[in-house]
Amino acid sequence: MTDLLERVHSREWFYRFELPDGTATATYHGGGLDQIHETRWNMLESILDAEFPAGQRNLRAVDLAAHQGWFSVHLAQAGIANVTGVDTRAEHVADARLITAAMGLSNVEFIHSDVFDLDPKALGTFDLVLMLGLIYHLENPIGALRLARALCGRLCLIETQVVPGMSGMVDFGSYHFVRPLRGSFGIIDETDETHGSETGTTGICLVPSIQALTWLLTKVGFSRCQILRPPPGAYEQLRHGKRVMVAAWV
Ligand SMILES: C[S@@+](CC[C@H](N)C(=O)[O-])C[C@H]1O[C@@H](n2cnc3c(N)ncnc32)[C@H](O)[C@@H]1O
Repeated sequence: MTDLLERVHSREWFYRFELPDGTATATYHGGGLDQIHETRWNMLESILDAEFPAGQRNLRAVDLAAHQGWFSVHLAQAGIANVTGVDTRAEHVADARLITAAMGLSNVEFIHSDVFDLDPKALGTFDLVLMLGLIYHLENPIGALRLARALCGRLCLIETQVVPGMSGMVDFGSYHFVRPLRGSFGIIDETDETHGSETGTTGICLVPSIQALTWLLTKVGFSRCQILRPPPGAYEQLRHGKRVMVAAWV
């Protein structure tokens, strides 16, 4: 076993990575979270096949809030030519670099940065933008959607927890000025958990309703969006529409 694989095996991980020697990483949740990751990859792979068939993957992809790089690794293994992962936690970026080195993947790089500190002009655009498991941890989810649009050259996939929405008409100042509600946000308090490795950094979380999310995606500049259908046997939150993966096209 190489030194790198030995380092990988010396600890537990958030994701189950399949390693080149046929082994896999041990996880600190005992496999309890594998299904959510596998369901999401399954959904992502379906749209990837439809949008960028094999042989047409000489593409740039960015994985925003990449954590230990599980989705970045899967994109690279699926033949995407150039993958960049970004995460605000230095330990995740170090883990992601270790795992990709151990797997011998040379076409994946990781940037240690808050997504809001990225400069879209310097980075350019990416054919595929992933923003999975991020916006419901943020106090500025709309800013994150604007960033996703700024970085996107073709297709963006947003995956998020959603809250039940309100709808109806609102007297906006007076009954002479009535406006439709375009969706809503739920406020979730994560302020005591920002030390956790899967949370946002401020702990003030604005979670959109599905209607809010789809309306916002077109308002920040995507031409259309579609809620993706979860596969049979999907992780319960996706199956019951409590989380969604939305594809948005430039
Ligand atoms: C729930 S995890 C999701 C990880 C991965 N995208 C997935 O879906 O499995 C949230 C990730 O977002 C990262 N994160 C939170 N706030 C961020 C920010 N402002 N900029 C960059 N990364 C952030 C966390 O460090 C963590 O890795």
